[in-house]
Amino acid sequence: MFFTLLRRLTAGSFAFFRRVLRWGGAWVQARPALAAWVYGDPQEAERVSEAELAEENYRDFNHHYFAGFGEQEKMLADGPRMAFYAAAVARRVRPGDRVIDLGTGTGILSAFAANSGAARVYALDHSDILKQARRLAEANGLAGVEFIATHSRDFTLPERVDVILHEQMGDYLFDEAMVPNVIDLRERLLRPGGVIVPSCFEFYCEPAKVRDERRIPFLWELNVRGYDYACLEDDRPENPNYYRHIGCDPGMIEHFLGLAAPALKIDLMTLRPDEMGRELKIVRKVVNPGRLDGFVVYFRALEGDDLALSSSPLDAGRAPHWGFRILRTEAAEFTAGEEITLTLRVGSWAEPGGWSWSWTRSAGG
Ligand SMILES: C[S@@+](CC[C@H](N)C(=O)[O-])C[C@H]1O[C@@H](n2cnc3c(N)ncnc32)[C@H](O)[C@@H]1O
Repeated sequence: MFFTLLRRLTAGSFAFFRRVLRWGGAWVQARPALAAWVYGDPQEAERVSEAELAEENYRDFNHHYFAGFGEQEKMLADGPRMAFYAAAVARRVRPGDRVIDLGTGTGILSAFAANSGAARVYALDHSDILKQARRLAEANGLAGVEFIATHSRDFTLPERVDVILHEQMGDYLFDEAMVPNVIDLRERLLRPGGVIVPSCFEFYCEPAKVRDERRIPFLWELNVRGYDYACLEDDRPENPNYYRHIGCDPGMIEHFLGLAAPALKIDLMTLRPDEMGRELKIVRKVVNPGRLDGFVVYFRALEGDDLALSSSPLDAGRAPHWGFRILRTEAAEFTAGEEITLTLRVGSWAEPGGWSWSWTRSAGG
């Protein structure tokens, strides 16, 4: 009891100081002369405050997005997703372990951990779904799980834990702040030799052909019964979001032009954020000739050699509640043996709205 009170007090004070620092930062930045003195290069200060603002906005969005039943039920009804987590937690959580469940939602991963014999589970969530998580735990007789209404960055403990559980993967893998949130907890609260579940991820970006009947060309590519839209090419929109397909379903994709391979592999146990770079080059030899319509972004989460969770549109066992995304290109025909080189530039991995891409072709070797 005393310990719980002390921890809540510490977490509350920490959250309060963060808020004061943010207000202080905003106050200083509203005074250019003072900001230049405090932060040095004003352009750099602007970049920092933009990043903080983006993070703050994302926190607000995430907090509301997951508060309702709608998003939670989609995730829980996703059979491959739940099978992956049930098996991974059963494998990695040992009797007596202390566990943090980062973003517990309805508490399902905490329940898996308790079933594996965890001594204590700290189930964190910053959205109002935590109210239902508590009711569910009571109704299901779940013991040893403490539900804590907090953002993970504001959470602290006097001791380190054995396991961090999380499901923070977005359609673009990185767009739900998985990397910064998990690394923050890892650095502060995971004991040496502890584990993160899941920790290994593959990020893919594959050149693909969309089924003819599902393809939506850019406006200037169209010719509708002789009415030619080509002159609009000069009026291409500047908004980068226009160049991404937001809602995609697996039925859209006919094939990948090359053989799929990870464009990036990360292990959250060891990853340093600056390791990820800001530019990826992806080269694919064409084995399925045809039209290039765009690059399909999807991911795989791995636990050991035998457990995988995939959002690929071409995997029969894909986890259905994840969408995948297409980085659109103008149509281009490819023959077998040619090579496509994609350059993907990312300002921030967490903000796909700022990604840009281009490709070149070569004869191949
Ligand atoms: C994708 S859902 C996963 C829910 C649950 N773990 C499951 O597997 O069904 C992510 C949950 O994490 C919460 N969340 C996201 N980022 C968080 C953070 N940094 N701290 C606390 N909760 C967070 C959201 O409110 C949401 O309920």
